[in-house]
Amino acid sequence: MKAIDWSNVGFGYMKTDYNVRCRYSNGKWGEIEVSSEETLNIHMAATCLHYGQEAFEGLKAFRGKDGKVRIFRLEANAERLQNTCEGILMPKVSVELFRQMVTKVVELNKDYIPPYESGASLYIRPLLIGISAQVGVHPANEYMFVIFVTPVGPYFKGGFSTNPYVIIREYDRSAPLGTGRYKVGGNYAASLKANQLAHEKGYSCEFYLDAKEKKYIDECGAANFIGIKDNTYVTPLSTSILPSITNRSLQQLAKDMGMKVEQRAIPEEELATFEEAGACGTAAVISPIERIDDLERGTSYVIAKDGKPGPVCTKLYNKLRAIQYGDDPDTYGWVTVLDI
Ligand code: PLP
Ligand code: COI
Repeated sequence: MKAIDWSNVGFGYMKTDYNVRCRYSNGKWGEIEVSSEETLNIHMAATCLHYGQEAFEGLKAFRGKDGKVRIFRLEANAERLQNTCEGILMPKVSVELFRQMVTKVVELNKDYIPPYESGASLYIRPLLIGISAQVGVHPANEYMFVIFVTPVGPYFKGGFSTNPYVIIREYDRSAPLGTGRYKVGGNYAASLKANQLAHEKGYSCEFYLDAKEKKYIDECGAANFIGIKDNTYVTPLSTSILPSITNRSLQQLAKDMGMKVEQRAIPEEELATFEEAGACGTAAVISPIERIDDLERGTSYVIAKDGKPGPVCTKLYNKLRAIQYGDDPDTYGWVTVLDI
């Protein structure tokens, strides 16, 4: 293994030593296999390739000051994957199989877990795909569940610093009764054009409005929206966004800090009233929002007036990171500790 410059890892793919795999056929999951291959050999008519029968997850492992490794909210990710499985007719992976495979792949690749001081982490990417051949639109009868890991740094430029975002009205990522609430690849395919547009215009990421009324904030490409005002944490209630586990965790931390939490529709115009705002997710953690522009309307909602992350987002960010790295106690049982 060659030396890694831990303080400069970005959010990208870096080869590690092993991945773990498990195959579903004849109505049951098989044995866990360890592989050092980076490729999958699958049938050209596999349902994941043609009909988007695929789901993924994203979680992280952190190396603490005490040398121990902590995996954040493993069970919650396993449960969300099960929910996605129901949504697109795939066999569920049990929480136990998920746990065994996640811990195994982290243990096998322990040399790739960034050191505490780097502020980086090990991103864990579970992937479930339909692999048997179908030409008619039907679910597969064979599946492959793979988990790989890769060391990652910040998802958005500059880590914990403010960035500009843009509402893209010409594209929808998901529909109210569609698959936005599931973590399936199709949602991300639907976001590529809007994301490219946002980047071309110099923004960090694109925001979507609800697809039906085009009135309410949904979420950004790969993270939920949170807004802070009057000691209240406000986040969208919508059937077309991914139920973010980071958001759920931050809501609890906000309550612990004596804040009110509201999960409700957020009209675009309300953006003007927030004292602070952020994009939150496993990859994004909290990315504080400088402003959100609606180019079509010619409106700019400037949130971080001094260009700096606000005190509430900073406190929430520090608290969440402290739990993840083991600096603060894990009072909610969010963390799986590995002594490796
Ligand atoms: N929204 C979308 C579309 C995402 O891809 C993600 C990333 O997983 C999130 C929100 C944040 O979810 P979580 O906090 O569970 O990572
Ligand atoms: C995550 O935050 O885990 C995500 O899935 C974002 C990702 C699509 C890069």
